[in-house]
Amino acid sequence: MGIEKVGVVGCGLMGSGIAQVCAAAGYATTVTEVDEKRLQAGLAKIEAQLGRSVEKGKLSAADKAALLGRLQGTTRLADLGKCDFVIEAATEEAVAKKQIFADLDARLPQHALLASNTSSLTIIALAAVTRRPDRVVGLHFFNPVPVMKLVEVVRTIATSDEAWATAKAFAASLGKEVVEAKDTTGFVVNRLLVPYMLDAIRCYEQGLASKEDIDRGMKLGCGYPMGPFELLDFVGLDTTLSIAEIMFDEFREPRFAPPSLLRRLVLAGHLGKKSGRGFYEHR
Ligand code: 3HC
Repeated sequence: MGIEKVGVVGCGLMGSGIAQVCAAAGYATTVTEVDEKRLQAGLAKIEAQLGRSVEKGKLSAADKAALLGRLQGTTRLADLGKCDFVIEAATEEAVAKKQIFADLDARLPQHALLASNTSSLTIIALAAVTRRPDRVVGLHFFNPVPVMKLVEVVRTIATSDEAWATAKAFAASLGKEVVEAKDTTGFVVNRLLVPYMLDAIRCYEQGLASKEDIDRGMKLGCGYPMGPFELLDFVGLDTTLSIAEIMFDEFREPRFAPPSLLRRLVLAGHLGKKSGRGFYEHR
């Protein structure tokens, strides 16, 4: 595959997990953030997560130290200049992502592959701002990244056979299972998951049942690890709203339209687990 150095753009919820699994798989990994505060918070999250694995006896202290030795943090995108594979996991904002792709394209070696962890934007729109659209793919991870086994590997109309094969082999080298997806908004999982979560909100809005009972129903009746409201809080209400808006814009189908309660909660700053309050209180 010829991949030794991996770059990750963004050290938030997804980026920190992606950087962790890349370093765990043996890659020399550099992760970037927009400022020192966010970078240190992301790196601290990785260290705490690894510390818990050591406490549980699932990781040796030596392996933790070796993993952290392969992981480097920076606030300069230019420090990714020698990477063979870069995964962008920045904020879900098309203009910002395009800027990052253009910047990276100008700095990376010619052979390097560029991937986005976007959950809803079209990959070809990002590929189009580069001079390497044949080497741009989607690599969609799931939260929490170190735990969830799936990566959707997304091929655009411009992705070359070689880049496609490399991207799938790279995802597998991280210990993940690959699902191949076409470059359509939401790919496979969010195409099904997002309308399900939005429908749960509509059921609650219409007084069908309490949110606690809807959650219990889906957990006990279907064996899901979390009910839809627990999952909404876990994913983030702002993230879900933004994905729903992009999907509604693409498909114009009512099932993708964000319910007004979701908008109101986001306007109130109730973003879920990350803000301490969403559909539920989180201490
Ligand atoms: N980071 C890393 N590891 C974590 C973690 C985190 N945030 N949260 C939990 N874990 C680990 C624990 O350390 C534990 O590891 P161990 O088995 O080695 O001890 C294991 O996961 C199980 O954790 P717990 O026993 O504490 O808790 P649960 O059994 O309740 O599992 C869960 C927690 C894995 C989060 C489980 O509730 C779950 O699978 N929930 C559904 C998650 C889901 O659906 N994710 C997809 C969201 S959609 C998405 O990401 C796409 C995006 O585009 C919107």
